[in-house]
Amino acid sequence: MASSDSDALVFLGATGDLAYKKIFPALQAMIKRGHLDVPIIGVAKAGWGLDQLKERARDSVEKHGGLDPEAFDKLCTLLRYVDGDYKDPETFQAVRKELGSAKRPAYYLAIPPALFELVIGQLATSGCTNGARVIVEKPFGRDLHSAQELNRVLLRTFNEKRIFRIDHYLGKRPVHNLVFFRFANAILEPFWNRGHIASVQITMAEDFGVQGRGGFYEGTGAIRDVIQNHLFQVLTNLAMEPPPRIDSESIRDEKVKVLKAIPPLERKNVVRGQFRGYRDEKGVAPDSQVETFAALQLEIDSWRWKDVPFFIRAGKCLPVTCAEIVVRFRHPPTMYSEFNLRANYFRFRISPEVTLAFGINAIAPGEDTMIHTDELIVSRHPRPEEMDAYERVLGDAMAGDQTLFAREDYVEEAWRIVDPVLKAGTPVLGYDQKSWGPSEVDTKVSPPGGWQNPIVED
Ligand code: BG6
Repeated sequence: MASSDSDALVFLGATGDLAYKKIFPALQAMIKRGHLDVPIIGVAKAGWGLDQLKERARDSVEKHGGLDPEAFDKLCTLLRYVDGDYKDPETFQAVRKELGSAKRPAYYLAIPPALFELVIGQLATSGCTNGARVIVEKPFGRDLHSAQELNRVLLRTFNEKRIFRIDHYLGKRPVHNLVFFRFANAILEPFWNRGHIASVQITMAEDFGVQGRGGFYEGTGAIRDVIQNHLFQVLTNLAMEPPPRIDSESIRDEKVKVLKAIPPLERKNVVRGQFRGYRDEKGVAPDSQVETFAALQLEIDSWRWKDVPFFIRAGKCLPVTCAEIVVRFRHPPTMYSEFNLRANYFRFRISPEVTLAFGINAIAPGEDTMIHTDELIVSRHPRPEEMDAYERVLGDAMAGDQTLFAREDYVEEAWRIVDPVLKAGTPVLGYDQKSWGPSEVDTKVSPPGGWQNPIVED
């Protein structure tokens, strides 16, 4: 363990959904890889004891990835549990006691943001925050104002170097690979600009609904849930300038610059949709105006991107589950106009499998002069067995590497862009499950040449 590594992990919200679905499996995986050997203290108010938490952990790993007997046994030996109310100072004195000789704990706040102020205040008063790091979940706030408030609360106790705002999309290797692909290949750079690129489209489609999270989703919606965070991270990786170095601040500086060049979204550039049946979900209002689908068009007012439209769409209950980017090039000034050529494009698939492909036009073999678009597959990896995004981000936070976390100015810039449409109350249009969202998308927010819907093979 390096001298800067966190020497204990305290996770608040230990009996909650996030811990069950993501944190326990990530902890087991970190232990299996030999990346975690410090006390792990779960905190919650459930009236539980340590044995119940261990049972929950067992159930969690069995359902999410599988139980590894050796790593799980080790997890159980590291696990501690504090049961108590976050309002009660005794809860935090108990945490302090469990920390023992730990000097650099990491606190993972897997709890609603409304509790951050209370919990951080309690941690500070009970002497738990010296040398500590804090890890917080997305969405970070629900608009610009609340994000600024949250930042104020965190910065009162922790300096920015000790704050880790999770966006698990950043922990996905293919998302990071976008940066590598761009800057490790000299052949791309001459084309990667407004002179050659006509439009960029980013699709995050999910073929399932809100999966019992209706209550959460009602306070969130697609723009807050995945666009302001996950898809903006994808966008900034695609659009940023080459950083002078690869340290976390050089990379994060460039990403913030992209956001700064994006004007606030206008209502005419957004279509919101809601799948039919959403209002029957548990926890959802019968007249809910929350969007389960959104499509939007953005501009980046920079030397590289001025006048290149960027399109983003994300939705639940769409025909497939897939995250994909299509970067479309300008049409050739061709004498082949009668062939109705498609523009060249780069296609990056983030999931379910990872694909990098280049779409080119060619004459089909045979007698007739048929033109078709072929894909040169640069690389394709079917469902890679790789480190889970949560394992990666938790490991990096414990090691103090901030590259894969959203900085204060980044989250505030991201909210600045979407804030006007969150407040504009644009109509929410119904769409059928298994469709590509409301039909208005195709007339209102559609790239030149249309959306390229991902095709996913079984
Ligand atoms: C989460 C959202 O942040 O990301 C979910 O809250 C969404 O609504 C999920 O389904 C998608 O992430 P992944 O890694 O499963 O593609």
